[in-house]
Amino acid sequence: MTQSPVTTISEIGKHDGQSVTLRGWLYNLRESGKLLFPIFRDGSGVIQGVLAKNAVAAEVFDAVKSLTQESSVIVEGKVRADKRAPGGFELDVAAIEIVQRVSESDPYPISPKEHGVEFLMEHRHLWLRSSRQSSILRVRAEIIKAVRDFFDDRGFVLTDSPILTPAACEGTSTLFPVDYFDEQAYLTQSGQLYIEASAMALGKVYSFGPTFRAEKSKTRRHLTEFWMVEPEVAYATLDDIMDLAEGLISSVVKKCLERRRADLDVIGRDVSKLEKIEAPFPRITYDAAVQMLQEGHAQGALESKFEWGGDLGSPDETYLAQKFDRPVMVHRYPAKVKAFYMEPDPKNPAAALCVDVLAPEGYGEIIGGSQRMSSYELLVQRIREHGLPEEAFKWYLDLRKYGSVPHSGFGMGIERAVAWICGLEHVRETIPFPRMLNRLYP
Ligand code: 4AD
Ligand code: MG
Repeated sequence: MTQSPVTTISEIGKHDGQSVTLRGWLYNLRESGKLLFPIFRDGSGVIQGVLAKNAVAAEVFDAVKSLTQESSVIVEGKVRADKRAPGGFELDVAAIEIVQRVSESDPYPISPKEHGVEFLMEHRHLWLRSSRQSSILRVRAEIIKAVRDFFDDRGFVLTDSPILTPAACEGTSTLFPVDYFDEQAYLTQSGQLYIEASAMALGKVYSFGPTFRAEKSKTRRHLTEFWMVEPEVAYATLDDIMDLAEGLISSVVKKCLERRRADLDVIGRDVSKLEKIEAPFPRITYDAAVQMLQEGHAQGALESKFEWGGDLGSPDETYLAQKFDRPVMVHRYPAKVKAFYMEPDPKNPAAALCVDVLAPEGYGEIIGGSQRMSSYELLVQRIREHGLPEEAFKWYLDLRKYGSVPHSGFGMGIERAVAWICGLEHVRETIPFPRMLNRLYP
């Protein structure tokens, strides 16, 4: 092969009319008479190559013709703009070097034909190579970058929380126990308690990391390991963090539309729905939500009648979200159904100063947050009521002894955000290697 410059498929438009070298894999191969149409992928995208039998050296033609799916190759060819091509360009292949040819006796297991979900999940390490899965992961990366930029640009300091912890944050039923030498530890369910400490040190902080919940439920929204971004702000009220949540979501959606439109197209997302996502978002109280749900039941749109006092289930969230074309913020749930650390509403102490943000189109809760309890005495009482080990919360209670201030924050599940923005049926496609009730391999 000659020495044309190495480039990537995503950059190929800069080389129209020139010879380039691409390093990647054979995605698919089509033959039509004396023409070969290999499709190459290189991680940044896919491009169709063209070879005419009478126009290239016989060994090049034969080498391409012999290629099996996912064989690794270095190809050289001339870039040609073509309006009909998906990325706008094709490659007239002139030379090829086969790095590894996948054997016919042990072919790549994922063929272009349809496979069942279980088979694909079992081959997740290979499934990631498909155009659709690669596009989803690019959108995921964009979402994470947009989230971090959003907070970094607004003076928040990233202070990550530990993953091994001595106590529960979000209730004891979904803890993963870990044997920590002679002590009992758990994988964290949320970094919140620790960023409350760092917010008292640094004012505006956030953490971003993996969180774990031993969710026994098999739903399309639950993972046992998921990534959460959690801002926490000293002196902020519930209203302040509702503003922050709507700002974050609109900014993330806007960045994805600006930078990942081609990937959203590959995924088949109806972007017109995302284009409507602009602040302000509707805000309704839990009480108003209950009224809407009861009306929905009376009209036959909901099977069971929602009783005041319960937590919202998936069908309830979906029903409420369908009433709006942008995320809806439901605030002031009954304290009974929420976590121990939430500040009671001074106007109605049975309600907590909390908010859940429900994504449109039935994607459910993507953000949960609240104003935190600032009183030492009440917090001790709540820890006892929830049957939590007081000893493990000693440090957390210190935050209410030494300069306690009102403060608020929330957590956004990255995978729920990816599922919604990409328009995916199930969260299993939102993370490279999902962990679920029945899935620990690969
Ligand atoms: O509502 P959650 O449980 O809130 C907390 O953990 C708070 N401590 C956060 C805070 O205030 N700093 O979880 C927050 C978000 C949910 O809205 C959802 O997006 C996501 O985390 N989430 C899950 N995502 C995937 N799989 C699961 N099992 C999830 N559980 C929660
Ligand atoms: Mg929640």
